[in-house]
Amino acid sequence: QPKVFHDPALLRAEIRKAQAAGKHVGLVPTMGALHEGHLSLVEASQNECDVTVVTIFVNPTQFAPGEDFEKYPRTLDADLELLSQFDPVWVLVPEVEAMYPTGSSTVVQAPKVSLPLEGAFRPEHFDGVATIVLKLFQAAPADKAYFGQKDFQQVRVIQEMVRDLIVPIEIVRCPIVREADGLAMSSRNRYLSSEEREIALSISRSLTEAGQQIAAGQRDAAELVRTMEQTLVAAGISKLDYIAVADPTTLESVQTIDAQVVILVAARVGTTRLIDNMLFSPV
Ligand code: PAJ
Repeated sequence: QPKVFHDPALLRAEIRKAQAAGKHVGLVPTMGALHEGHLSLVEASQNECDVTVVTIFVNPTQFAPGEDFEKYPRTLDADLELLSQFDPVWVLVPEVEAMYPTGSSTVVQAPKVSLPLEGAFRPEHFDGVATIVLKLFQAAPADKAYFGQKDFQQVRVIQEMVRDLIVPIEIVRCPIVREADGLAMSSRNRYLSSEEREIALSISRSLTEAGQQIAAGQRDAAELVRTMEQTLVAAGISKLDYIAVADPTTLESVQTIDAQVVILVAARVGTTRLIDNMLFSPV
């Protein structure tokens, strides 16, 4: 069984001890409700580091009022069971009070790359993410931290924060893990009814089709967006927050595809908000 910590200070002491003994420590921050996407990050850490630390904390400050903080799935026993296949793995499960001591008011203002896309639809979200991730880096001062491409903009936000604030940790981005039919794995997929799941599949399909069009010579981003929108609307997507063809570094929109781009989608299927993305290169 994984070693569970509730007290960040105790975990930090163990990490320091391991590092003093020459061990490399990898960190995988999560909000729990673990699935194979999360486990792929644990695996990547296990391959590169001697000890892996997984944090499980549903961070209140990254949810806006009216979002799914209260109903976010909390499945700690199942999560620990899934993590028991890895060794050694240390798990931090902090109380809110441990991460946000009473009276705390210091926050991180997320970098500029947080402003478009998710930032435009969830204005406080990345400040909350940057704040908790910096705290987790303090509680668990690992050598490397693993994040999924699934949250493409989140990785860019963390990379910029780590550079700007001179945080001594290496950020590793890992590929998106998908269901056999292409749906990107997400803790929120468990909200979907079977009809909604069918509709949700159009998101990854529209991205794959966009990639085929790029491979066939399409260089006009607006054309790609139009086609994707048609696919998604025809499939029954209730609300499209955005489809964007963007520069993978700045996340600014691209008009003509003459270098690698990331295409990002955020859409609502029923009341569930899903995101996905893929990287594509011309030629
Ligand atoms: P959470 O949504 O639990 O995701 C934890 C990590 O798993 C993130 O880095 C995310 O990108 C990655 N992940 C999720 N689904 C994935 C998939 N299908 N394939 C690969 N990686 C996947 O992201 C968060 O939590 C929070 O914002 C957090 C960083 C923990 C801060 O609270």
